[in-house]
Amino acid sequence: MTSLTIRRPDDWHLHLRDGDMLKAVLPYTSRHFARAIIMPNLVPPVVTSSDASAYRDRILAALPQDHVFEPLMTLYLTEGTSPDDVEEGARSGLIKAVKLYPAGATTNSASGVRNFDNAMPVLERMAKIGLPLCVHGEVTSPHVDIFDREAAFIEAVLDPIRRRLPELKITMEHVTTSDGIDYIKNSTANLAGTITTHHLIINRNAILAGGIRPHYYCLPVAKRESHRLALRAAATSGDTRFFLGTDSAPHVDPLKESACGCAGCFTSINTLSCLAHVFEEDDALDRLEAFVSLNGPLWYGMLPNEERITLTKKKEPVGYPDRIETQAGPVTVFDPMFRSHWDVG
Ligand code: NCD
Ligand code: ZN
Repeated sequence: MTSLTIRRPDDWHLHLRDGDMLKAVLPYTSRHFARAIIMPNLVPPVVTSSDASAYRDRILAALPQDHVFEPLMTLYLTEGTSPDDVEEGARSGLIKAVKLYPAGATTNSASGVRNFDNAMPVLERMAKIGLPLCVHGEVTSPHVDIFDREAAFIEAVLDPIRRRLPELKITMEHVTTSDGIDYIKNSTANLAGTITTHHLIINRNAILAGGIRPHYYCLPVAKRESHRLALRAAATSGDTRFFLGTDSAPHVDPLKESACGCAGCFTSINTLSCLAHVFEEDDALDRLEAFVSLNGPLWYGMLPNEERITLTKKKEPVGYPDRIETQAGPVTVFDPMFRSHWDVG
């Protein structure tokens, strides 16, 4: 196959940041994607519907004039989140999901949830109105090994929440382990998972073998090869419960290339080109559209996009910059360690 036309994709987990960084990174998403679930972990976080409305306005103001893009806003769940505010935001159409960060799990998560009992009134209201909860599925206990934090979260947090509130729709975000994949596959309802581009491509060796490579460090951290293979199998399977959430998370290079570097891979520039390469490698190009354009809207109760995009396989590898310059500083682009020939028109 040398050309593939699919419905315009959506990104179901994206960090756009704010200010200069927002201006610099948004066009890379909006030129290919019609919609994206926007992560609320700004400083300070997006905690109320009015915060989300103001952030949405800033995103739309930063959009290039000739791009059509719909930011799907989320709220950052805190122990003080008001169920009424969540419900009003959802009913007005502004709020599409609420994001649960266990406190301390990742970048800007200090206001996250420590005691899950305190979040139950909001979760109960969400279950009642059918608003999905997006979860960063890692426990934060220092006693749990970082490579085991996803599996521990499923057992200690996710499964208990699902037993208490089986009607709550939960998106397990950026699944990185076969434990997560199996847990989703074995569920009968109300659970789906997003998978990032980079977790389909790298395992933990990329970060640690032959030198420490901070641009491959993200959270949840990439795991061993057997887990990557489980993610690849799920993403390319066509199973409607799995879909793309890039988790593209730009940080300026000085903050990543540091003695204590930030977590996040910046993939919005080359995500579709990389994914076409990955799906072709697994003989699954015919299922790329399900992963990037169909399964996500199905889960979120939206229609898939009517517009189409065409991916074309070129003779020469497709070029993109190693890093982009922003007013906030340089941001290194995710290097998949292969050269994709797939160009997005
Ligand atoms: C994200 C960020 O930088 O905001 N980082 C990351 O490694 N994915 C936060 C997150 O989604 O965990
Ligand atoms: Zn993220």
